[in-house]
Amino acid sequence: MTKAGSNLSLDGQGNPVWLLLELTYKCPLKCAFCSNPTDLDAYGNELNTAEWKKVIHEARSMGAMQIGFSGGEPTLHKDLEELVAEANDLGYYTNLITSGIGLTRKRLENLKAAGLRHIQLGFQSDHRETAHWLAGVDCYDKKISIAREIKSLGFPMVLNVPISSINIHQVPGIIELATEIGVEYLELANVQYYNWALVNRNQLMPTREALEKAELQVAEARARLGDRITIFFVIPDYYEDRPKACMNGWGSIHLTIAPDGVALPCSQARAIPGLDFPSVRDHDLRWIWHESDSFNIYRGDSWMKEPCRSCSEKEIDFGGCRCQAMLLTGDAANADPACSKSPHHHIIQQAVAKALQTEQDHKHLIARDVGWVSTEVWHNDLDT
Ligand code: FES
Repeated sequence: MTKAGSNLSLDGQGNPVWLLLELTYKCPLKCAFCSNPTDLDAYGNELNTAEWKKVIHEARSMGAMQIGFSGGEPTLHKDLEELVAEANDLGYYTNLITSGIGLTRKRLENLKAAGLRHIQLGFQSDHRETAHWLAGVDCYDKKISIAREIKSLGFPMVLNVPISSINIHQVPGIIELATEIGVEYLELANVQYYNWALVNRNQLMPTREALEKAELQVAEARARLGDRITIFFVIPDYYEDRPKACMNGWGSIHLTIAPDGVALPCSQARAIPGLDFPSVRDHDLRWIWHESDSFNIYRGDSWMKEPCRSCSEKEIDFGGCRCQAMLLTGDAANADPACSKSPHHHIIQQAVAKALQTEQDHKHLIARDVGWVSTEVWHNDLDT
């Protein structure tokens, strides 16, 4: 089953195009919307540099073209430059997905020399206090200064700002700040509710009115700013009638390698119990991608239940997100309840109603409280 007009393949015949390496779950921030697992302490024993290089080689030989170095905070990895150089030499388009905390001009110069092509910088707000509430750490000044360093070194950059009830009213200010810094792309990504964001869902959920207002503000800014900046505004699933085509389909083009070497069709897939995800320590990637049960299980459409199986839109959204179906309905093979055709759609509607009845206040946010690393410890480690 191939999506019309694209190279997407859901039958396992395609290859991973987009490789995401989660080098570590450790992070200097404690974001209340973090997409890392809430039980991330359970996954130690991180891959070493030689093991990461083997993954980079294997995926490239299978046709992977883009590589993302992510986390946690990927710059915590002392051999990041070496890994970037390896990937660049093999012809990957290299992308760093970072909080910016702990980055320095020197490190950026080294990454540039290693062949890093693009940086995605996570950002919370154009207000210092709000950024602190959301990130759990006072990070505003550092983020602004590193954003300017990134631009001064000529990196293409996307500023990624998770949007929630806490900062949605700041959209105009965030756009102005991004434009002034000179970023090419601004991604205003409404928070999707997995892991820590799911824990904080009642506090983070914006109202429909706030979303509509922000959308209008984005449209106005696009018209005014023209080519100076490209602004993406991603609506949260919970306010859509149809689900997102998550990962362009399970095991279609995306491959995540978790810090402990477990290979996943998406970063959230560990939310699905009962799937035995293979490790790159035990199997080569070709076997994992083409042969393993956990990558094949939601390919094609034979796994689908109704209403997905007979739905005319199944090749557009592939039934939505398997992880969200699991988290909200208890069965990953159900239609994503974000879809209004799903018999479980009321779960989404009830979740929105409950969140909006909750007294929303930043003081009630639950910060990610595991895997935190102070930048002082980190710099000492890098120096030794
Ligand atoms: Fe895992 Fe959507 S996040 S399939």
